[in-house]
Amino acid sequence: MSQLLLPQASAFGKVVVLYGGTSAEREVSLNSGKAVYDGLLAYGIDAHLLDTGKEDVISALRDGDYARAFIVLHGRGGEDGEIQSILHYLKIPFTGSDMASCAIAMDKLVTKSVWRDAGLPVLPDMQVYADDSYESIAQELRSACFVVKPALEGSSVGVSRVSNQQEFAAAFIAAGGAGEKIMAEPWIDGRELTYTVLGEDVLPSIEIIASGSHVFYDYEAKYLADDTRYLCPAPIEAALDGALREDALAAFLAVGGSGWGRVDYLLDEQGYASLLEVNMVPGMTSHSLVPLAAKEAGLDFTTLVVAILAQTM
Ligand SMILES: Nc1ncnc2c1ncn2[C@@H]1O[C@H](COP(=O)(O)OP(=O)(O)O)[C@@H](O)[C@H]1O
Ligand SMILES: [Mg+2]
Repeated sequence: MSQLLLPQASAFGKVVVLYGGTSAEREVSLNSGKAVYDGLLAYGIDAHLLDTGKEDVISALRDGDYARAFIVLHGRGGEDGEIQSILHYLKIPFTGSDMASCAIAMDKLVTKSVWRDAGLPVLPDMQVYADDSYESIAQELRSACFVVKPALEGSSVGVSRVSNQQEFAAAFIAAGGAGEKIMAEPWIDGRELTYTVLGEDVLPSIEIIASGSHVFYDYEAKYLADDTRYLCPAPIEAALDGALREDALAAFLAVGGSGWGRVDYLLDEQGYASLLEVNMVPGMTSHSLVPLAAKEAGLDFTTLVVAILAQTM
C-alpha cells in the first residue's frame, strides 16, 4: 500500500450512505451499508443512512444537503450506473466508478467483450435463449458442461451448472427466463480467486473455498454458510500472483473503473486463469472479501471506508 494520509472527519462534511435498494441483493446491501455507516461514524464523520428502496431518493438527496455520497448498493439500480447518474446530475460527489463504467461492469457479456478486445484472458461465452438446445450451446462453447447465469445479476443469483437438455431448461428459468439477458460459458472446475483494487493499489489476493456441500460459490456459501473458507493471501506462486494482480488492475481500468472494486478469477486445473467479472460495489459486510484483503494489507475496516470516501475529495 502506498502511504495513506486521510483527511480529518470534519473535512468530509455531511455524508449520505446509500444502501438497501430494490435489487435481488437488497439484503446484502443492508448489511454492507450498515457496516460502512458504522465505520464512518467510528471515524467521527457526520454520516446518514438512506435506504433507496424505501425513500424517494431524488428528493431525499436534493433536500439532504449532503457533501458527498458513499454508494453501498449492489446490483441493479446501484451498481449499474443508475444511482451514479442521479448523483452526477445533482452534483453530489460519490464513491467508486462513474455511470458509464458501472453500466459496462454490470453486464458480464459486455465486460468480457471489452476484456477480450484488450487481450485479457476470458472464457468463451454466448448469450442464450429459451429455444436454444443444450447440444448447440455445448458445441459452440466446446464444452459438455457449462454455466448458465443472468448477465446482469450478482451474488450468485440464478447461477446453474448444465450438462444436459433438461438441466438447460431448468437453468434458463432459474436465471430469470425469457426477458432476462442470460449467458453461458464453459464450466470450470477449479479455484476461485479475487483481487481488490483500491485507488491505484491492488490488495492481497484471496482464494475462496466453498465447502464440499456446495457445487460452486453459491448464494448460501457466500452469505450464510460458516464453512466457506477464505485464504488471504491465496496460496499461489508469486509469479502467478504478480501476473493476476497486473491483469486485475488492467481489467478494472479497461472498463473505466476508478476508486475501488473487486476483480474475480477462475483458475482451471491446468493453472490457467480467466477473468470472471468485476464488481463495482463489492460486499462490505463483516464477512466480505474486500475488508479481508484490506486487513491483510494493514488497513482496518474504518481506515478502509474512510480511504474510499476520501477518493471523493
Ligand atoms: N464458468 C464458470 N465455471 C464454474 N463456476 C462458475 C462459472 N461462472 C460462475 N461460476 C460460479 O458461480 C459464482 C457466481 O458467478 P459470477 O459470474 O461471479 O456471478 P455473480 O455476479 O452472481 O457473483 C462464481 O463465484 C462461481 O462459483
Ligand atoms: Mg461473482
